[in-house]
Amino acid sequence: MDSLGSIPSALAHLQHGKLTPFVDPLPLPTVLQPVKKVEGKPFYRVPMTQFQQQLHRNLPPTTVWGYHGSYPGPTIEAHTNKPIFVEWINNLPTEHLLPIDHTLSGAGTNVPDVRTVVHLHDARVTPENDGLPLDWFPPGHSKTDFYPNIQPATTLWYHDHAMGITRLNVYAGLAGFYLLRDELEDRLHLPRRPFEIPIALQDRSFNSNGQLFYPNKGVTAKHPVWVPEFFGDVAVVNGKVMPFLEVEPRKYRFRFLNGCNARFLRLALSSGQPFYQIGSDGGFLPESVALQQILMGPAERADVIIDFSDHKGKMITLTNDAPAPYPTGGQFVIPKFMQFRVTKPLSSPDTSSVPKRIKGLSLFAGVPVVKVRNLTLNEVLDKNGNPIELLLDGLPFNAPVTEKPKLGTAEIWSLINLTGDTHPIHLHLEQVQILDRQPFDVAAYQSTGKLIFTGPAVPRDANEAGLKDVVKAMPGEVTRLKVRFNTFTGRYVWHCHILEHEDNEMMRPYEVIR
Ligand code: C2O
Ligand code: CU
Ligand code: CU
Repeated sequence: MDSLGSIPSALAHLQHGKLTPFVDPLPLPTVLQPVKKVEGKPFYRVPMTQFQQQLHRNLPPTTVWGYHGSYPGPTIEAHTNKPIFVEWINNLPTEHLLPIDHTLSGAGTNVPDVRTVVHLHDARVTPENDGLPLDWFPPGHSKTDFYPNIQPATTLWYHDHAMGITRLNVYAGLAGFYLLRDELEDRLHLPRRPFEIPIALQDRSFNSNGQLFYPNKGVTAKHPVWVPEFFGDVAVVNGKVMPFLEVEPRKYRFRFLNGCNARFLRLALSSGQPFYQIGSDGGFLPESVALQQILMGPAERADVIIDFSDHKGKMITLTNDAPAPYPTGGQFVIPKFMQFRVTKPLSSPDTSSVPKRIKGLSLFAGVPVVKVRNLTLNEVLDKNGNPIELLLDGLPFNAPVTEKPKLGTAEIWSLINLTGDTHPIHLHLEQVQILDRQPFDVAAYQSTGKLIFTGPAVPRDANEAGLKDVVKAMPGEVTRLKVRFNTFTGRYVWHCHILEHEDNEMMRPYEVIR
């Protein structure tokens, strides 16, 4: 889909080229501490507030929203089968930080502009604790969620999910890491803190006064109602513009998160060395994969090891060359995100290793598939060809629930992408296994509703061999995934994780029934 179109000169806020890269050190999010125990379990308290944060040495302080006074929020460290409570408190002002497009409120009329709800992305929790879009609460209110952590180790993240306004709340800064660890992880000889570092990759735009710029409604004549995808022009990593990280000549483990609203990332290292990917959204991969490039859609995570031991003294740039939108392009590509400087002396011998085989994954083996669902991804245009909204299954969010899988069964969901964009499709509650992708005749499908394949099915990528919670559905392809509903019953959502799409109808409820 075309996006902002050419950026009008009136928006001369673009900062790329004006902000010197690699002058500020990479901030490391702090680890959150519990405030007490409740029923013998750690209880955390996280206020959401508005504050100022310096995002670059040459930028005036930026007003942002954050959890526990920082953007991104502090990291929550949890362990499998050790439940915790988190009280999320909305202490934000009653006026939104960013201009609001009221035609897109999504939550209905007469809803407060400032409303938040925190979703723990990838968590197996009951619906009441999931942070579903309609469970938002206004300033002065809070919600306590129970996270049982009944799943293997993985990189989760928490972020805002309030109906109709997620794109603005997350853009304002409401996101943070939640690292779940387990005994398998403890047994692997992975690099550990301080050599294990979470890295949230985001794009932002700034006005010349240093404030966040978000091009809402009516910014271009072309998009009078809605900006279908936001692409910032400046890389922000852990809340700093194009930072640097001084490293020792040893192995590091990085938890990459694509925390952008809409931008895909195709990451590489300027030294030409590989990433060793050991995990993705759903936890560890069956075996590690050496990759020159890693493609990440919004909300995807990549757990990687980078070995700096042969690069003493070098400056290594983390680069990106993914077209925006993906894969059609046309918008500004942010070419570099951060720099690694291999300038620190080795403080201790590196005893870590890159595991080869990690985990035997019998992914839903033997679980019979009881249903195959054909689910379309499509965009709705007005008579002038401007995008108005995007739909899943041809239906808006408020239409009655059509996907009602039965607890204890497995299904195949075939995502039929009728648009020109890649959509990062995310299911709450259960992780999925990607089966394959197959090109089909889009025009024929649109006129006859028949799926005519135009080529063979292509197996999933090597770094998609583990469980996933975000699936890239490419244009003109049917992406097939298998999912087992085996945890809780109740109503959840599935949606596109391009936040502008999610906020404009590309989200549907689904209900696990007994
Ligand atoms: Cu990361 Cu429903 O979201
Ligand atoms: Cu989620
Ligand atoms: Cu989408």
